[in-house]
Amino acid sequence: MNILDSFSLKNRVALVTGGRRGIGKAIVLALAQAGADIALCDNMDENGEFEKLTADLKEIGRRCLTIKTDVARSEQVQEMVKKTLLVYGKIDILVNNAGISPGTPPIPELKEADWDAVIDINLKGTYLCIREVSQSMIARKSGSIINISSVEGLGTVRKSSSPYGASKSGIVMLTRGLAWDLGKYNIRVNAIAPGAIKTEMTRGMWDAESESFKNMLAGMKAVQGAAAPKDAATVSRQYWARIVPLERMAEPSDIASGALYLASDAAAYVTGHTLVIDGGMLA
Ligand SMILES: NC(=O)c1ccc[n+]([C@@H]2O[C@H](COP(=O)([O-])OP(=O)(O)OC[C@H]3O[C@@H](n4cnc5c(N)ncnc54)[C@H](O)[C@@H]3O)[C@@H](O)[C@H]2O)c1
Repeated sequence: MNILDSFSLKNRVALVTGGRRGIGKAIVLALAQAGADIALCDNMDENGEFEKLTADLKEIGRRCLTIKTDVARSEQVQEMVKKTLLVYGKIDILVNNAGISPGTPPIPELKEADWDAVIDINLKGTYLCIREVSQSMIARKSGSIINISSVEGLGTVRKSSSPYGASKSGIVMLTRGLAWDLGKYNIRVNAIAPGAIKTEMTRGMWDAESESFKNMLAGMKAVQGAAAPKDAATVSRQYWARIVPLERMAEPSDIASGALYLASDAAAYVTGHTLVIDGGMLA
């Protein structure tokens, strides 16, 4: 077999959560380009993203089922998996990507509801989707599950993000435990820990018009005075060069290529692993 053939997802079905935009959308497109038919869920469809993605996938000959689902609600997750199995008959690949990263105060001031929101979507949602999907994977003795964690699940990279870090760290250990639970059924479970990726979630880090970006620029001016950079591209490069060896934020496609590898037979002997894609940030 040609090594490139092992990356093919022809005749596979992939279910991607939080797939309407950002990293999830890039994963949807990558898996579809590799040959998979797609079921994508999201709890929002604000700007006709479901319809647009369905049309994009149709153009490359792939089917796309869109399902409005809140991954933190077990009855909605059950319904989503039921619908997907009804339409496609199987799920080969599950990507647990849906997540939120709200700014939270330090734990002593954190409201219980704000803790619950992050843990329920990021960690419990991942568990609920795996619980439902794995039953059909076990019956077929085949499957690949990919959970989207974060570098913040492996180390603290900013202040006041404890619930997010705890949820993403939980995903790393859930992934390892599941590798044991499901390995005997030929189901692989892996995680990806992205660094800083240009999406809506991180708009304040890259959009020159956003308040956070303006604050970043003001901070540089305070330290560097007249020598501080004036254009957004240089501000961004100088900022990221201090914390990322590759001196930039990632594009969603940088994460999607890792997901394609883990989803495919090219990773047939990889399970329980967390693939860090962070431009070297943790180095
Ligand atoms: N952007 C980054 O720098 C970065 C870094 C590390 C990890 N991540 C993780 O990557 C994943 C995708 O993030 P992104 O940057 O593309 O953000 P995003 O906000 O652009 O996308 C997240 C998607 O998840 C959906 N979603 C949120 N809550 C949901 C729910 N309850 N049920 C179903 N869908 C829900 C949103 O509607 C959205 O479409 C998240 O798990 C995030 O924590 C992102």
